[in-house]
This record gives sequence, structure tokens and C-alpha cells, in this order.
Amino acid sequence: MRHPLTRSLLLALVALTPFSLQADPDLARGKALNRQCALCHGFHGQGIIGGKYPRLAGLPEYYLLSMMEKYKSGELDYQAMTVVGGLRNLSAEDIQNLAAFLSDVDLATVAPLDIPTPEDADVENGEDLYQGDCKSCHGRKAEGSKKKESPPLAGQYSEYLARQIEMFKKKDRIHADDEEDETFAAYEPQEIKDILAYITTLDDK
Ligand code: HEC
Ligand code: HEC
Repeated sequence: MRHPLTRSLLLALVALTPFSLQADPDLARGKALNRQCALCHGFHGQGIIGGKYPRLAGLPEYYLLSMMEKYKSGELDYQAMTVVGGLRNLSAEDIQNLAAFLSDVDLATVAPLDIPTPEDADVENGEDLYQGDCKSCHGRKAEGSKKKESPPLAGQYSEYLARQIEMFKKKDRIHADDEEDETFAAYEPQEIKDILAYITTLDDK
């Protein structure tokens, strides 16, 4: 029942996307390159408990590509990653190979994660705030949205997310790629805790 034009339109769109340099990313190459990332992000891209190194496994390709580009270009500054991780020397093709490999990892089968829910937070309040202010872009279950180019928040370490929110507040990182973004301006620290606590309940499958 597909309209004959749909496919050619789709192909034309794909051809216009800047990162689609290759038709088929090379997953084996991505896996080999991942060794230099695994030093910090773990063998499977599972990150580390406590969130010093975020989880990369299973994150959507569009988001991994966009973050790698931001680090490579220096828009986000983390020398250890661009130098030790070698990100600054990776070609656009290899960035794509890595993103394809990492997003393909099914962590639930190789290294299941369950982010703990802190005790000193009000999960119900977090749910109200999340469903009111975050759902429109990050999805009802914090699964992320390709259309909004937003990452999943469920399944990511709370401490890492909290650190990003601090950066957003200080404009060291621009939230939602919008310089004018004020998402976090009015929140009390306890409210952020509540939202993050609620998010930890969304990966309990
Ligand atoms: C020396 C340690 C180190 C190495 C090596 C490293 N990273 Fe990272 N990476 C980090 C840290 C730390 C952060 C989080 C920075 C922060 O807290 O703002 C990060 C963040 C990221 C993010 C953002 C994740 C998100 O959810 O937004 C991506 C993507 C990423 N790294 C990819 C890579 C890739 C791909 C490689 C290999 C080419 C790599 N990193 C190598 C330490 C490292
Ligand atoms: C207008 C759409 C939009 C809304 C509303 C929104 N976000 Fe985001 N958010 C994004 C996009 C797009 C990104 C990825 C680009 C970036 O900011 O770096 C992002 C990134 C993030 C990150 C960084 C994740 C990572 O892995 O590094 C966190 C944390 C976050 N958002 C939390 C929230 C919370 C909590 C709320 C609600 C209080 C919220 N966002 C509301 C669009 C949105």
C-alpha cells in the first residue's frame, strides 16, 4: 500500500542528511574503534556506576553522532576524550561507524543496568514535573525522540544527567540546542532530584 513516491522521497532525504556518507556503516570497524572509548566508557559502552562516564550503549545513532561532533568541534570541551579517546582524529565515516556500533549494543543482554532510585526524592512529584515539562521532547517514558533529536534519559546514570543539568544552567552546554532555553532556570535542586528519581523508575522493565 505504499505510495511509489515514498521510497524515492525517503532516499532523497537520506542523501541530504549530512552524516549519511555511507550507505552501510561498518560495525566491525566501529567495534574495533570502540577499544579507545572502552578505556572510560566500558567494553560494551555501559559507562560506570556513579556516572563519571556515561552510558553510550543503545543510545540512538542521531544523538551519538551529534554529541561526537560537538566534542570533536570543541563546542563541548573534554580534552581527555578528544585526545586519549582519539575523537579529534576520527573521520566522519569512522564517527558514523562508531555511532552505529554503539547504538546497536543491546545492553540488556550483555551487561544489564538498573539505575538505583534514591531514597531522598519524591518520585510522584518527579513524575508530575517530568510529564509536564519534559515529555514533549524526551518522550512519555523518557525514551528519547528522533523528531526532536532528544536523547533517552531512562537508563542513563542519574549523576551524569544531574551534571549535564548543572552545565545547562550555567550555559556551559546548550540544552535543546536553543541558546534561549530556560527549562531548568526555575527548578529547585530538590525538584531536579525528584525528576531524576522518577526517570530511574522508567527503565525497570
Ligand atoms: C578519558 C576518558 C574518555 C574516553 C577515552 C572517551 N570518553 Fe566519551 N566521555 C567521557 C566523559 C567523562 C564524558 C562526560 C563528560 C561530562 O560529564 O560532561 C563523556 C561523554 C561522551 C558522550 C556523551 C554521552 C551523552 O549521553 O551525552 C559521548 C557520545 C561520548 N563520550 C563518546 C565517546 C567515544 C565515541 C569515545 C571513543 C572515540 C569516547 N567517548 C572516549 C570520557 C571519555
Ligand atoms: C524543547 C525540547 C526539550 C524539552 C522540553 C526538554 N528537553 Fe532535554 N534535551 C532536548 C534535546 C534536543 C537534547 C539534546 C541536545 C542537547 O541539549 O545537548 C536534550 C538533552 C537533555 C539532557 C542531556 C542528556 C545526555 O545524555 O547528555 C538532559 C539531562 C535533559 N535534556 C533533561 C531534560 C529534562 C529533565 C527536561 C524537563 C525538565 C527536559 N530535558 C526538557 C530537548 C528538550
